[in-house]
Amino acid sequence: MKSMNLCVGRGPVAGLAVLVVSLCGTAFGGSTPPPPTLNTTSTDFEELGTVAGDLVLPLLNSGACLFCHSQFDFNVEPGRWAGSMHAQSVRDPVWQAAVTIASQDAAFSVETCLKCHSPLAHFGGRGVDVNGQIDYASLQPADFDGVTCNACHRLVDPVYEAGVSPTVDDMIIMALTNGPPVTPGNAQYVLDPDDVRRGPFNDLGAGHPHSWLYSPFHQEGDLCQTCHDVSNPTLSKQMDGSYQLNSINAQHPTHDKHDMFPEQRTYTEWSLSEFAATGVDMGGLFGGNKVVVSTCQDCHMPDVTGEACIPPFDPVFRTDLPLHTFQGANNTALEMILHQYSEELDETMVDAINANLAANLTMLQNATDMELTQNGCQLEVKITNNCGHKLLTGYPEGRRIWINVKYYDGAVLVAERGFYDTGTAALTTTDTKVYETVMGIDATQSAATGEPVGPSFHLVFLNMILKDNRIPPRGFDNAAFEAGQAGHVGYSYADGQYWDETGYGIPVDADSAEVTLYYQSFSREYIEFLRDENQTDSKGTDLWNTYVATGMSAPIVMDQMTVPLTPFQEGDIDGDGDVDFDDLNIVLSNWGATQSLLRDGDADKDGDVDFDDLNVVLGFWGQSL
Ligand code: HEC
Ligand code: HEC
Ligand code: HEC
Ligand code: HEC
Ligand code: HEC
Repeated sequence: MKSMNLCVGRGPVAGLAVLVVSLCGTAFGGSTPPPPTLNTTSTDFEELGTVAGDLVLPLLNSGACLFCHSQFDFNVEPGRWAGSMHAQSVRDPVWQAAVTIASQDAAFSVETCLKCHSPLAHFGGRGVDVNGQIDYASLQPADFDGVTCNACHRLVDPVYEAGVSPTVDDMIIMALTNGPPVTPGNAQYVLDPDDVRRGPFNDLGAGHPHSWLYSPFHQEGDLCQTCHDVSNPTLSKQMDGSYQLNSINAQHPTHDKHDMFPEQRTYTEWSLSEFAATGVDMGGLFGGNKVVVSTCQDCHMPDVTGEACIPPFDPVFRTDLPLHTFQGANNTALEMILHQYSEELDETMVDAINANLAANLTMLQNATDMELTQNGCQLEVKITNNCGHKLLTGYPEGRRIWINVKYYDGAVLVAERGFYDTGTAALTTTDTKVYETVMGIDATQSAATGEPVGPSFHLVFLNMILKDNRIPPRGFDNAAFEAGQAGHVGYSYADGQYWDETGYGIPVDADSAEVTLYYQSFSREYIEFLRDENQTDSKGTDLWNTYVATGMSAPIVMDQMTVPLTPFQEGDIDGDGDVDFDDLNIVLSNWGATQSLLRDGDADKDGDVDFDDLNVVLGFWGQSL
């Protein structure tokens, strides 16, 4: 079932209206879906900031902009937006499948999903039926704009700064029906009620035909915070540190995001980094024409040379034109969109998506540095994080990065760690490092939802973090990250540490090692979950089919290196050339450790420290190379 055609076509007319829509029905196999598990209401998801009634003029779709701003050619700035996940956030088959699960789990939760993923639908009052379920039939073609131009360009800094913010903002904030957000984030937009387009420049060319305002906010990472710190408002933090369900049909008691369960903390991670504090010269890895990179925009909207509008309107020629690529990492979603909507997508949108596939790849390749060192019988893999946030940030479910090690004797593969089966998309996780977040459900939430205690992908139920070992950014501070709900779980990094080291035991017959760092948008387990838990519509099976047809979220190589290995003395754990008391001490002091990967006494390299390791050390006692 194909969902929808586009709101923007090749010409101005197509962009503005008159498109035939082939809507997806929500009926599935003729049977009525079960009632949602939680009988939540709109009130449970209501937040502060602009509500639809505050808007004097409705949000416009991209068709109202593209005529001048890129002539509907998405290869021209700012039309590059069309190739980004911002423009694809409603077409996204993973999002659609997840929204059905959210609909099943908590009534009206989709109101909040749409608030970030389709501001046009949200502020237009579309997309949710009377039972609080996703309702594609009510969406207009323009709602498929996703995070559209106008949603960002009417954003007002919710924290008024006299002398910096446009003076009108003070009044806009004071007039808000629900009041301004206590803590920005969670799509608590403050929008200009009028259609005044705000942007980063105060020197527009003489030909600009619409109301505009110079807005310093548009050059700040704080703007991205609006949607890139995500919390679940149905949960409140308790004295014991756990997060528990609020009473149903009530707003969050404090509206402070720190009192809610943290789903994504990309903004917070960045705001506590050296990038936010001072900016960093990354030697041209990011930023285009800009050398020192600081804000989200610097890395995700690199500066180029050019103009942002068609010539008749006399735009300013700029060397600091921020490109609307919003380049990131999610190539799998873009590939799935190209596949699933191949019939409907505008030709230049296909080009823009292809351009972003390449830009994302560059981002992933620049995201890390890898160093390999042999230390006796251990191969140490050091991964350095170059990003402005944790390495692997954002959406928690199914995303992962892992290390794969292949040991060779000549051309013969003698051993492998972190084996990934491309045929089945199964990853061997027990013998390598996987960077990821694992979230889950505790006993109280289990009682409320009927889901078992432990790891889970039921996004709106999640109330605990079971694992977070993602590598922090430059400027990392444990206490500050902890306070921002962006700390680590089951792993630790020292203050200031923005790298991680993993040690792998080397088989005696290996003479070289090839190490690869892989990124994957979606684990097979996550896609299977979205397929198997769906009791409502075909979105889960549609997703599965697209996933299989597009190569099962093929892992992307972020870094790869091959090193020759020098012969070593077996049992020489500390790598100093002989087997002696130092090696014995390492075994004894790590006794009982499991899944131990670094300098840890695991002399037989089987993943734990036990009698076998003692025997290796004693067996080679006194020997040296
Ligand atoms: C009739 C042509 C036209 C249309 C339609 C149009 N713009 Fe513009 N816009 C311009 C021109 C010309 C400029 C000045 C560009 C320059 O000199 O850099 C401009 C500038 C801007 C700026 C920069 C403001 C600043 O201070 O940095 C923003 C943001 C903007 N437009 C957003 C939009 C959005 C959003 C839409 C659709 C809702 C839109 N425009 C529709 C012609 C247009
Ligand atoms: C406050 C804003 C916000 C809200 C509310 C929100 N999301 Fe998102 N969502 C995001 C952002 C930002 C990303 C992208 C992060 C990334 O790529 O790492 C995202 C990504 C996703 C993804 C991953 C898509 C992909 O292709 O990788 C899914 C699935 C998703 N959201 C589902 C939902 C559902 C279901 C809801 C409602 C229950 C929801 N979101 C509510 C901001 C939001
Ligand atoms: C996710 C938010 C977001 C969306 C969506 C978005 N913009 Fe922007 N736009 C920005 C930000 C932020 C800047 C300034 C970046 C900077 O200065 O580093 C900007 C800058 C601009 C400018 C100034 C010149 C330029 O080209 O960079 C124009 C014009 C503009 N946007 C128009 C548009 C149009 C038209 C669309 C839709 C096709 C759009 N924007 C979509 C956030 C957004
Ligand atoms: C109105 C909400 C909103 C705002 C404001 C916003 N984003 Fe997003 N952003 C999203 C959503 C939703 C997605 C994910 C869409 C999906 O995956 O389906 C996303 C995805 C992204 C991605 C793609 C991630 C990937 O995995 O490839 C990047 C990069 C990004 N945003 C950067 C930014 C930056 C930089 C800003 C500020 C200039 C910003 N966003 C502002 C909602 C927003
Ligand atoms: C120094 C450059 C830099 C800065 C600053 C930066 N990012 Fe990123 N970001 C990256 C790189 C590189 C990646 C790709 C690697 C990854 O996915 O972690 C990335 C990935 C992302 C993703 C996709 C994560 C995923 O895999 O789903 C999102 C969303 C994102 N950034 C948003 C932001 C936002 C929002 C900000 C500001 C609050 C920001 N970034 C600041 C470099 C940067």
